[in-house]
Amino acid sequence: MSLSPPPAASERAARYEDVFRRIEALLDGETDWIAAMATVACELHHTFAYYHWTGFYRAVSDDLLVIGPYQGGHGCLRIPFDRGVCGAAARTRQTQLVPDVDRFPGHIACSSTTRSEIVVPVLTPDDRLLAVLDVDSDDPAAFDETDQAYLERLCRQLGVRFAATPVR
Ligand code: SME
Repeated sequence: MSLSPPPAASERAARYEDVFRRIEALLDGETDWIAAMATVACELHHTFAYYHWTGFYRAVSDDLLVIGPYQGGHGCLRIPFDRGVCGAAARTRQTQLVPDVDRFPGHIACSSTTRSEIVVPVLTPDDRLLAVLDVDSDDPAAFDETDQAYLERLCRQLGVRFAATPVR
């Protein structure tokens, strides 16, 4: 549970704008996919107190996700597309905004303290799935439409930037 109350929408948006400027500067000219995911996970994780696990799962085939760079406690290494919140995001290519993980059928609990989660697909402009960005919180209903909009914008930008990068 975060000690500080969740930020209001305007404060949340301001923090996203600020961290996106930092990520843009850090990734300037960067062509390595792993380095980019590691930087994004680190910057996001250390910006928001309600982010308790932040990381990527890479789409290594048409039905399997394998863990990528992350921040937080250990995450499960492999997730088939037919399991968990991450699998649902990979299968549907839609963001999964989960206010209560205990009410999500098949949620995979890498930590017993996780209460809410958001998972956003990283898609190329021609709709190839590169990865999913997974963020867990120990706070209930920690993520809202502001988080979703900004994380989708970030993942769209990553999909464009690495569309030509062999990630499998
Ligand atoms: N909760 C995710 C699994 C990944 S761990 O949380 C890092 C899921 O249900 O897919």
